[in-house]
Amino acid sequence: MIGPIKIPILHFLKITILLYTKMGEVSLTEEVKYERTPFGKDMLKHFAFDPAWKNLNHGSFGAAPRAIRNKQRAYQDECDARPDLFIRYRYPKLLDESRAAMAKLLNAPIETVVYVSNATMGVNTILRNIPWHDDGRDEILYFNTIYGACGKTVECVAEINRYAVQPREMHVTYPLSDADVVKVFKDSIRASRAARKFPRVAIFDTVSSLPGLRVPFEQLTQICKEEGILSLIDGAHGVGHIPLDLSAVDPDFFVSNAHKWLFVPRGCAVLFVPVRNQGLIRSSLPTSHGFQPKTSGGGTPSSLPPAKNSKFVNNFEFVGTIDNTNYLVAPEAIKWRDEVCGGEKAIMEYTSNLAREGGKAVAKLLGTKILDNDEHTLTACNLVNVLLPLEVSESAIPGTNTVKSADKYEVTLKLQKILIEEHNTFIAIFFFQGQWWARLSGQVYLDITDFEWVAGKLKDVCERAGKQGFLESKN
Ligand SMILES: *[C@@H]1O[C@H](CO)[C@@H](O)[C@H](O)[C@H]1NC(C)=O
Repeated sequence: MIGPIKIPILHFLKITILLYTKMGEVSLTEEVKYERTPFGKDMLKHFAFDPAWKNLNHGSFGAAPRAIRNKQRAYQDECDARPDLFIRYRYPKLLDESRAAMAKLLNAPIETVVYVSNATMGVNTILRNIPWHDDGRDEILYFNTIYGACGKTVECVAEINRYAVQPREMHVTYPLSDADVVKVFKDSIRASRAARKFPRVAIFDTVSSLPGLRVPFEQLTQICKEEGILSLIDGAHGVGHIPLDLSAVDPDFFVSNAHKWLFVPRGCAVLFVPVRNQGLIRSSLPTSHGFQPKTSGGGTPSSLPPAKNSKFVNNFEFVGTIDNTNYLVAPEAIKWRDEVCGGEKAIMEYTSNLAREGGKAVAKLLGTKILDNDEHTLTACNLVNVLLPLEVSESAIPGTNTVKSADKYEVTLKLQKILIEEHNTFIAIFFFQGQWWARLSGQVYLDITDFEWVAGKLKDVCERAGKQGFLESKN
Protein backbone atom coordinates (compact mmCIF):
# COMPACT_ATOMS: atom_id res chain seq x y z
CA MET A 1 0.00 0.00 0.00
CA ILE A 2 2.77 2.39 0.94
CA GLY A 3 5.62 2.41 -1.52
CA PRO A 4 9.25 2.24 -0.39
CA ILE A 5 10.82 5.58 0.41
CA LYS A 6 12.81 6.56 -2.66
CA ILE A 7 15.75 8.26 -1.02
CA PRO A 8 18.99 6.26 -1.40
CA ILE A 9 20.24 6.83 2.13
CA LEU A 10 17.08 5.23 3.42
CA HIS A 11 17.94 1.86 1.93
CA PHE A 12 20.07 1.28 4.93
CA LEU A 13 17.23 2.41 7.17
CA LYS A 14 14.87 0.10 5.36
CA ILE A 15 16.95 -2.86 6.46
CA THR A 16 16.89 -1.79 10.09
CA ILE A 17 13.17 -1.10 9.91
CA LEU A 18 12.62 -4.53 8.44
CA LEU A 19 14.53 -6.05 11.31
CA TYR A 20 12.19 -4.27 13.65
CA THR A 21 9.31 -5.77 11.75
CA LYS A 22 10.56 -9.21 12.57
CA MET A 23 10.34 -8.22 16.19
CA GLY A 24 6.69 -7.28 15.77
CA GLU A 25 7.37 -3.58 15.34
CA VAL A 26 5.98 -1.46 12.58
CA SER A 27 7.47 -0.68 9.21
CA LEU A 28 6.82 2.19 6.86
CA THR A 29 8.40 0.48 3.93
CA GLU A 30 6.95 -2.99 4.00
CA GLU A 31 3.52 -4.29 4.74
CA VAL A 32 3.19 -6.12 8.02
CA LYS A 33 1.20 -9.32 8.02
CA TYR A 34 -0.81 -9.62 11.20
CA GLU A 35 -1.70 -12.87 12.86
CA ARG A 36 -5.32 -13.88 13.36
CA THR A 37 -6.33 -13.78 17.03
CA PRO A 38 -9.47 -15.22 18.65
CA PHE A 39 -12.01 -12.76 20.09
CA GLY A 40 -12.09 -12.29 23.84
CA LYS A 41 -9.20 -12.24 26.32
CA ASP A 42 -6.61 -13.26 23.69
CA MET A 43 -7.20 -9.92 21.98
CA LEU A 44 -6.07 -7.98 25.05
CA LYS A 45 -2.43 -8.52 24.11
CA HIS A 46 -2.89 -6.17 21.18
CA PHE A 47 -4.18 -3.32 23.33
CA ALA A 48 -2.37 -1.05 25.76
CA PHE A 49 -4.76 -1.37 28.72
CA ASP A 50 -3.34 -1.69 32.21
CA PRO A 51 -3.83 -5.37 33.12
CA ALA A 52 -5.81 -4.26 36.18
CA TRP A 53 -8.19 -2.09 34.12
CA LYS A 54 -11.38 -3.51 32.65
CA ASN A 55 -12.49 -1.53 29.62
CA LEU A 56 -16.25 -1.93 29.43
CA ASN A 57 -16.83 1.58 28.11
CA HIS A 58 -15.22 1.47 24.67
CA GLY A 59 -18.11 3.65 23.43
CA SER A 60 -16.88 6.88 25.00
CA PHE A 61 -13.30 7.28 23.84
CA GLY A 62 -12.43 4.14 21.89
CA ALA A 63 -9.04 2.43 22.05
CA ALA A 64 -6.50 1.68 19.34
CA PRO A 65 -4.41 -1.51 19.10
CA ARG A 66 -0.68 -1.07 19.66
CA ALA A 67 0.21 -1.91 16.06
CA ILE A 68 -1.90 0.96 14.77
CA ARG A 69 -0.51 3.40 17.32
CA ASN A 70 2.99 2.28 16.34
CA LYS A 71 2.27 2.96 12.70
CA GLN A 72 1.14 6.46 13.65
CA ARG A 73 4.28 6.91 15.74
CA ALA A 74 6.42 5.94 12.77
CA TYR A 75 4.74 8.72 10.75
CA GLN A 76 5.36 11.13 13.60
CA ASP A 77 9.05 10.17 13.55
CA GLU A 78 9.13 10.73 9.83
CA CYS A 79 7.55 14.15 10.30
CA ASP A 80 10.06 15.08 12.98
CA ALA A 81 12.96 13.97 10.79
CA ARG A 82 12.03 16.22 7.84
CA PRO A 83 9.11 18.44 8.91
CA ASP A 84 8.61 20.41 5.70
CA LEU A 85 9.03 17.45 3.42
CA PHE A 86 6.51 15.49 5.43
CA ILE A 87 3.89 18.17 6.06
CA ARG A 88 3.98 19.76 2.61
CA TYR A 89 4.50 16.79 0.31
CA ARG A 90 4.14 13.42 1.98
CA TYR A 91 1.17 14.12 4.28
CA PRO A 92 -1.24 15.16 1.47
CA LYS A 93 -0.35 12.04 -0.49
CA LEU A 94 -0.82 9.72 2.50
CA LEU A 95 -4.04 11.53 3.38
CA ASP A 96 -5.41 10.81 -0.09
CA GLU A 97 -4.51 7.13 0.33
CA SER A 98 -6.30 7.09 3.66
CA ARG A 99 -9.36 8.82 2.22
CA ALA A 100 -9.42 6.22 -0.54
CA ALA A 101 -9.39 3.33 1.95
CA MET A 102 -12.12 4.95 4.04
CA ALA A 103 -14.24 5.74 0.98
CA LYS A 104 -14.00 2.12 -0.10
CA LEU A 105 -15.03 0.86 3.32
CA LEU A 106 -18.07 3.16 3.35
CA ASN A 107 -18.86 2.55 -0.33
CA ALA A 108 -18.64 6.25 -1.15
CA PRO A 109 -16.81 8.07 -3.97
CA ILE A 110 -13.39 9.25 -2.81
CA GLU A 111 -14.13 12.91 -3.64
CA THR A 112 -16.94 12.91 -1.04
CA VAL A 113 -14.79 11.91 1.93
CA VAL A 114 -12.54 14.09 4.13
CA TYR A 115 -11.31 13.89 7.73
CA VAL A 116 -12.16 16.09 10.70
CA SER A 117 -11.29 15.64 14.36
CA ASN A 118 -14.57 14.18 15.59
CA ALA A 119 -18.29 13.87 14.92
CA THR A 120 -19.10 17.08 16.81
CA MET A 121 -16.65 18.90 14.56
CA GLY A 122 -18.41 17.43 11.53
CA VAL A 123 -21.85 18.50 12.78
CA ASN A 124 -20.45 21.98 13.49
CA THR A 125 -18.89 22.16 10.03
CA ILE A 126 -22.21 21.42 8.36
CA LEU A 127 -24.49 23.55 10.52
CA ARG A 128 -22.16 26.55 10.48
CA ASN A 129 -21.85 26.46 6.69
CA ILE A 130 -25.45 26.10 5.62
CA PRO A 131 -26.70 29.47 4.35
CA TRP A 132 -29.98 29.86 6.24
CA HIS A 133 -32.90 31.52 4.50
CA ASP A 134 -33.49 35.04 5.73
CA ASP A 135 -37.27 34.73 6.07
CA GLY A 136 -36.73 33.27 9.55
CA ARG A 137 -38.66 30.08 8.82
CA ASP A 138 -35.84 27.50 8.68
CA GLU A 139 -35.86 24.82 11.36
CA ILE A 140 -33.38 22.18 12.50
CA LEU A 141 -35.15 19.03 13.66
CA TYR A 142 -33.46 16.84 16.23
CA PHE A 143 -34.41 14.16 18.76
CA ASN A 144 -34.20 14.75 22.51
CA THR A 145 -31.58 11.96 22.60
CA ILE A 146 -29.13 14.08 20.52
CA TYR A 147 -25.52 14.06 21.79
CA GLY A 148 -25.10 16.92 24.30
CA ALA A 149 -22.49 18.92 22.37
CA CYS A 150 -24.47 18.61 19.13
CA GLY A 151 -27.64 19.80 20.90
CA LYS A 152 -25.64 22.81 22.09
CA THR A 153 -24.40 23.34 18.53
CA VAL A 154 -27.99 23.54 17.26
CA GLU A 155 -28.80 26.15 19.93
CA CYS A 156 -25.63 28.09 19.21
CA VAL A 157 -26.23 28.14 15.45
CA ALA A 158 -29.75 29.49 16.07
CA GLU A 159 -28.39 32.18 18.38
CA ILE A 160 -25.53 33.43 16.22
CA ASN A 161 -27.84 33.53 13.20
CA ARG A 162 -30.27 35.70 15.21
CA TYR A 163 -32.85 32.93 15.04
CA ALA A 164 -33.04 32.96 11.25
CA VAL A 165 -33.00 29.23 11.96
CA GLN A 166 -34.66 27.62 14.96
CA PRO A 167 -34.41 24.29 16.73
CA ARG A 168 -37.35 21.90 16.85
CA GLU A 169 -36.97 19.07 19.34
CA MET A 170 -38.61 15.75 18.56
CA HIS A 171 -39.50 13.87 21.69
CA VAL A 172 -39.07 10.11 21.98
CA THR A 173 -39.76 7.97 25.05
CA TYR A 174 -38.10 4.55 24.88
CA PRO A 175 -38.60 1.72 24.23
CA LEU A 176 -40.06 2.44 20.83
CA SER A 177 -40.40 0.40 17.67
CA ASP A 178 -38.68 1.77 14.58
CA ALA A 179 -42.12 2.46 13.17
CA ASP A 180 -42.88 4.65 16.22
CA VAL A 181 -39.64 6.60 15.77
CA VAL A 182 -40.55 7.16 12.14
CA LYS A 183 -44.00 8.34 13.21
CA VAL A 184 -42.57 10.87 15.69
CA PHE A 185 -40.33 12.13 12.88
CA LYS A 186 -43.15 12.50 10.37
CA ASP A 187 -45.42 14.16 12.93
CA SER A 188 -42.70 16.71 13.71
CA ILE A 189 -42.26 17.56 10.06
CA ARG A 190 -46.00 18.06 9.81
CA ALA A 191 -46.05 20.21 12.96
CA SER A 192 -43.21 22.34 11.59
CA ARG A 193 -45.07 22.99 8.37
CA ALA A 194 -48.36 23.60 10.21
CA ALA A 195 -46.57 26.35 12.16
CA ARG A 196 -45.59 27.91 8.78
CA LYS A 197 -41.98 26.87 9.33
CA PHE A 198 -39.56 25.27 6.91
CA PRO A 199 -38.00 22.02 8.18
CA ARG A 200 -34.62 22.58 6.55
CA VAL A 201 -32.27 20.08 8.24
CA ALA A 202 -32.88 16.98 10.35
CA ILE A 203 -30.11 15.56 12.55
CA PHE A 204 -30.26 12.01 13.80
CA ASP A 205 -27.86 9.37 15.05
CA THR A 206 -26.82 6.03 13.66
CA VAL A 207 -26.59 4.80 17.26
CA SER A 208 -27.48 7.28 20.01
CA SER A 209 -25.11 7.87 22.88
CA LEU A 210 -27.14 7.90 26.11
CA PRO A 211 -29.05 5.66 25.96
CA GLY A 212 -26.96 3.69 23.48
CA LEU A 213 -29.54 2.51 20.94
CA ARG A 214 -29.62 1.89 17.22
CA VAL A 215 -31.68 4.49 15.37
CA PRO A 216 -33.49 3.63 12.09
CA PHE A 217 -31.36 6.20 10.27
CA GLU A 218 -31.84 4.59 6.85
CA GLN A 219 -35.61 5.09 7.06
CA LEU A 220 -35.26 8.63 8.44
CA THR A 221 -32.90 9.53 5.59
CA GLN A 222 -35.43 8.22 3.10
CA ILE A 223 -38.17 10.38 4.63
CA CYS A 224 -35.89 13.41 4.39
CA LYS A 225 -35.51 12.72 0.67
CA GLU A 226 -39.26 12.47 0.17
CA GLU A 227 -39.86 15.64 2.18
CA GLY A 228 -37.06 17.75 0.72
CA ILE A 229 -35.20 18.05 4.04
CA LEU A 230 -31.42 17.93 4.34
CA SER A 231 -30.40 14.84 6.32
CA LEU A 232 -27.42 15.14 8.65
CA ILE A 233 -26.42 11.81 10.20
CA ASP A 234 -24.38 11.87 13.39
CA GLY A 235 -22.49 8.60 13.16
CA ALA A 236 -20.41 9.16 16.29
CA HIS A 237 -20.93 5.42 16.66
CA GLY A 238 -20.77 4.49 13.02
CA VAL A 239 -17.86 3.12 11.04
CA GLY A 240 -16.57 -0.13 12.54
CA HIS A 241 -19.72 -0.44 14.66
CA ILE A 242 -22.62 -1.08 12.27
CA PRO A 243 -22.70 -1.97 8.58
CA LEU A 244 -22.65 1.22 6.51
CA ASP A 245 -23.17 1.69 2.79
CA LEU A 246 -23.29 5.40 2.06
CA SER A 247 -24.15 4.94 -1.61
CA ALA A 248 -27.23 2.97 -0.61
CA VAL A 249 -28.30 5.24 2.28
CA ASP A 250 -27.32 8.39 0.37
CA PRO A 251 -27.64 10.99 3.16
CA ASP A 252 -27.04 14.69 2.52
CA PHE A 253 -24.33 14.81 5.18
CA PHE A 254 -22.76 12.09 7.31
CA VAL A 255 -20.01 12.14 9.89
CA SER A 256 -18.57 9.21 11.80
CA ASN A 257 -15.91 8.97 14.44
CA ALA A 258 -13.20 6.53 13.42
CA HIS A 259 -11.44 6.65 16.79
CA LYS A 260 -14.20 4.82 18.61
CA TRP A 261 -15.04 1.66 16.76
CA LEU A 262 -12.59 1.54 13.85
CA PHE A 263 -9.53 1.61 16.16
CA VAL A 264 -7.96 4.74 14.65
CA PRO A 265 -6.09 6.72 17.33
CA ARG A 266 -8.08 9.66 18.81
CA GLY A 267 -9.52 11.95 17.43
CA CYS A 268 -10.42 11.10 13.90
CA ALA A 269 -13.73 11.29 12.09
CA VAL A 270 -14.74 10.91 8.48
CA LEU A 271 -17.00 13.58 6.99
CA PHE A 272 -19.03 12.64 3.92
CA VAL A 273 -20.59 15.29 1.71
CA PRO A 274 -21.93 14.11 -1.64
CA VAL A 275 -20.85 16.26 -4.60
CA ARG A 276 -24.37 17.67 -4.96
CA ASN A 277 -24.04 19.36 -1.54
CA GLN A 278 -20.40 20.39 -1.62
CA GLY A 279 -21.32 23.88 -2.84
CA LEU A 280 -23.07 24.45 0.50
CA ILE A 281 -20.00 23.59 2.56
CA ARG A 282 -17.75 26.54 1.75
CA SER A 283 -15.23 26.21 4.54
CA SER A 284 -13.55 23.88 6.97
CA LEU A 285 -13.59 24.81 10.66
CA PRO A 286 -11.51 26.81 11.22
CA THR A 287 -11.29 28.45 7.79
CA SER A 288 -7.85 27.77 6.41
CA HIS A 289 -5.69 28.05 3.29
CA GLY A 290 -8.01 25.91 1.20
CA PHE A 291 -10.82 28.47 1.31
CA GLN A 292 -11.48 30.30 -1.94
CA PRO A 293 -13.45 33.53 -1.45
CA LYS A 294 -16.06 34.32 -4.13
CA THR A 295 -15.16 37.99 -4.22
CA SER A 296 -11.40 38.46 -4.21
CA GLY A 297 -10.74 36.26 -7.24
CA GLY A 298 -9.76 33.18 -5.28
CA GLY A 299 -7.91 34.94 -2.50
CA THR A 300 -4.25 35.03 -1.56
CA PRO A 301 -2.40 32.02 -2.91
CA SER A 302 -0.96 29.91 -0.10
CA SER A 303 2.68 28.93 0.06
CA LEU A 304 1.75 25.25 0.16
CA PRO A 305 2.28 23.07 -2.91
CA PRO A 306 -0.61 23.52 -5.36
CA ALA A 307 -3.64 21.43 -4.50
CA LYS A 308 -4.53 18.57 -6.77
CA ASN A 309 -7.95 17.86 -5.34
CA SER A 310 -11.35 19.53 -5.60
CA LYS A 311 -12.26 22.72 -3.69
CA PHE A 312 -14.12 20.70 -1.08
CA VAL A 313 -11.36 18.18 -0.43
CA ASN A 314 -8.74 20.90 -0.51
CA ASN A 315 -10.49 22.89 2.18
CA PHE A 316 -9.97 20.06 4.65
CA GLU A 317 -6.46 19.00 3.61
CA PHE A 318 -4.41 21.42 5.68
CA VAL A 319 -6.18 23.26 8.48
CA GLY A 320 -3.09 24.23 10.43
CA THR A 321 -0.07 23.04 12.34
CA ILE A 322 -1.56 20.10 14.15
CA ASP A 323 -0.53 16.49 14.42
CA ASN A 324 -3.03 14.56 12.37
CA THR A 325 -0.85 11.57 11.63
CA ASN A 326 -3.72 9.59 13.15
CA TYR A 327 -5.77 10.35 10.00
CA LEU A 328 -3.11 8.52 8.00
CA VAL A 329 -3.48 5.18 9.74
CA ALA A 330 -7.12 4.45 8.89
CA PRO A 331 -5.89 2.04 6.16
CA GLU A 332 -3.75 0.26 8.76
CA ALA A 333 -6.74 -0.01 11.10
CA ILE A 334 -8.87 -1.49 8.33
CA LYS A 335 -6.11 -3.96 7.45
CA TRP A 336 -5.56 -4.88 11.11
CA ARG A 337 -9.25 -5.57 11.58
CA ASP A 338 -9.23 -7.74 8.49
CA GLU A 339 -6.18 -9.79 9.34
CA VAL A 340 -6.38 -10.01 13.12
CA CYS A 341 -10.16 -10.18 13.52
CA GLY A 342 -11.40 -11.61 10.22
CA GLY A 343 -13.00 -8.43 8.91
CA GLU A 344 -15.82 -6.03 9.65
CA LYS A 345 -18.64 -8.56 9.47
CA ALA A 346 -17.01 -10.97 11.91
CA ILE A 347 -16.22 -8.14 14.33
CA MET A 348 -19.73 -6.69 14.25
CA GLU A 349 -21.31 -10.07 14.73
CA TYR A 350 -19.16 -10.73 17.80
CA THR A 351 -19.40 -7.28 19.37
CA SER A 352 -23.14 -6.70 18.91
CA ASN A 353 -23.98 -10.21 20.07
CA LEU A 354 -21.72 -9.79 23.11
CA ALA A 355 -23.31 -6.44 23.98
CA ARG A 356 -26.83 -7.84 23.86
CA GLU A 357 -26.08 -11.18 25.57
CA GLY A 358 -23.72 -9.53 28.06
CA GLY A 359 -26.35 -6.92 28.86
CA LYS A 360 -28.93 -9.64 29.43
CA ALA A 361 -26.55 -11.50 31.75
CA VAL A 362 -25.99 -8.34 33.80
CA ALA A 363 -29.73 -7.66 33.96
CA LYS A 364 -30.36 -11.22 35.10
CA LEU A 365 -27.86 -10.90 37.94
CA LEU A 366 -29.34 -7.54 38.96
CA GLY A 367 -32.92 -8.74 38.64
CA THR A 368 -33.71 -6.01 36.09
CA LYS A 369 -33.90 -5.73 32.28
CA ILE A 370 -32.18 -4.25 29.25
CA LEU A 371 -33.68 -1.43 27.19
CA ASP A 372 -35.05 -2.97 24.00
CA ASN A 373 -38.13 -3.10 21.80
CA ASP A 374 -40.07 -6.19 20.73
CA GLU A 375 -38.25 -6.40 17.39
CA HIS A 376 -34.83 -6.06 19.13
CA THR A 377 -33.81 -3.40 16.62
CA LEU A 378 -32.71 -1.03 19.41
CA THR A 379 -30.01 -3.50 20.47
CA ALA A 380 -28.68 -4.21 16.99
CA CYS A 381 -25.46 -2.44 17.99
CA ASN A 382 -22.46 -2.66 20.34
CA LEU A 383 -24.02 -0.67 23.17
CA VAL A 384 -26.51 -2.01 25.69
CA ASN A 385 -28.38 -0.25 28.49
CA VAL A 386 -29.13 -2.18 31.67
CA LEU A 387 -31.63 -0.95 34.26
CA LEU A 388 -30.04 -0.56 37.70
CA PRO A 389 -31.71 -1.75 40.91
CA LEU A 390 -31.95 1.75 42.33
CA GLU A 391 -35.14 3.72 42.86
CA VAL A 392 -35.67 7.43 43.19
CA SER A 393 -38.20 8.42 45.83
CA GLU A 394 -38.81 10.90 48.63
CA SER A 395 -39.21 8.18 51.24
CA ALA A 396 -37.51 4.82 51.55
CA ILE A 397 -39.27 1.98 49.69
CA PRO A 398 -38.93 -1.29 51.59
CA GLY A 399 -36.98 -3.99 49.75
CA THR A 400 -35.40 -1.54 47.31
CA ASN A 401 -32.34 0.68 47.11
CA THR A 402 -33.76 4.18 47.35
CA VAL A 403 -32.27 7.60 46.59
CA LYS A 404 -33.84 11.03 47.24
CA SER A 405 -34.66 12.82 44.00
CA ALA A 406 -32.62 15.91 44.89
CA ASP A 407 -29.52 13.72 45.22
CA LYS A 408 -29.75 11.91 41.91
CA TYR A 409 -26.98 13.71 39.98
CA GLU A 410 -24.53 13.58 42.85
CA VAL A 411 -25.32 9.89 43.35
CA THR A 412 -24.66 9.22 39.66
CA LEU A 413 -21.25 10.87 39.87
CA LYS A 414 -20.35 9.02 43.04
CA LEU A 415 -21.35 5.64 41.59
CA GLN A 416 -18.99 6.22 38.65
CA LYS A 417 -16.20 7.40 40.92
CA ILE A 418 -16.45 4.32 43.10
CA LEU A 419 -16.27 2.06 40.05
CA ILE A 420 -13.07 3.79 38.95
CA GLU A 421 -11.41 4.02 42.34
CA GLU A 422 -12.36 0.68 43.83
CA HIS A 423 -12.94 -1.53 40.83
CA ASN A 424 -10.66 -0.19 38.07
CA THR A 425 -13.42 0.20 35.57
CA PHE A 426 -15.75 2.88 34.28
CA ILE A 427 -19.39 2.43 33.40
CA ALA A 428 -21.51 5.18 31.88
CA ILE A 429 -24.31 5.44 34.45
CA PHE A 430 -27.11 7.84 33.62
CA PHE A 431 -30.50 8.90 34.87
CA PHE A 432 -33.01 8.49 32.08
CA GLN A 433 -36.82 8.49 32.02
CA GLY A 434 -36.95 8.42 35.82
CA GLN A 435 -34.55 5.50 36.31
CA TRP A 436 -30.86 4.69 36.46
CA TRP A 437 -29.27 2.82 33.61
CA ALA A 438 -25.77 1.55 32.94
CA ARG A 439 -24.45 1.60 29.36
CA LEU A 440 -22.01 -1.17 28.51
CA SER A 441 -19.99 -1.73 25.33
CA GLY A 442 -19.27 -4.96 23.50
CA GLN A 443 -15.76 -5.15 22.03
CA VAL A 444 -13.39 -7.71 20.56
CA TYR A 445 -11.22 -7.87 23.71
CA LEU A 446 -14.17 -8.66 26.02
CA ASP A 447 -16.20 -11.78 26.67
CA ILE A 448 -19.27 -12.70 28.70
CA THR A 449 -17.28 -13.18 31.92
CA ASP A 450 -16.38 -9.48 31.89
CA PHE A 451 -20.07 -8.61 31.90
CA GLU A 452 -20.75 -11.10 34.71
CA TRP A 453 -17.87 -9.57 36.65
CA VAL A 454 -19.21 -6.04 36.38
CA ALA A 455 -22.72 -7.15 37.32
CA GLY A 456 -21.43 -7.96 40.80
CA LYS A 457 -19.79 -4.56 41.09
CA LEU A 458 -22.92 -2.77 39.93
CA LYS A 459 -25.04 -4.71 42.41
CA ASP A 460 -22.68 -3.73 45.21
CA VAL A 461 -22.58 -0.02 44.40
CA CYS A 462 -26.36 0.19 43.97
CA GLU A 463 -26.88 -1.38 47.39
CA ARG A 464 -24.51 1.12 48.91
CA ALA A 465 -26.14 4.04 47.10
CA GLY A 466 -29.55 3.00 48.40
CA LYS A 467 -28.49 3.26 52.04
CA GLN A 468 -28.72 6.36 54.23
CA GLY A 469 -25.64 8.56 54.29
CA PHE A 470 -24.19 7.31 50.98
CA LEU A 471 -23.21 10.76 49.72
CA GLU A 472 -21.50 11.65 52.99
CA SER A 473 -19.62 8.36 53.28
CA LYS A 474 -16.08 8.00 52.09
CA ASN A 475 -16.10 5.42 49.29
C1 LIG B 1 -13.79 17.68 18.75
O1 LIG B 1 -12.58 18.25 18.29
C2 LIG B 1 -12.33 19.58 18.67
C3 LIG B 1 -10.98 20.02 18.16
O2 LIG B 1 -10.73 19.63 16.91
C4 LIG B 1 -12.34 19.71 20.16
O3 LIG B 1 -12.21 21.06 20.51
C5 LIG B 1 -13.64 19.15 20.72
O4 LIG B 1 -13.58 19.16 22.12
C6 LIG B 1 -13.85 17.71 20.25
N1 LIG B 1 -15.14 17.23 20.70
C7 LIG B 1 -15.32 15.99 21.14
C8 LIG B 1 -16.70 15.64 21.58
O5 LIG B 1 -14.43 15.19 21.19
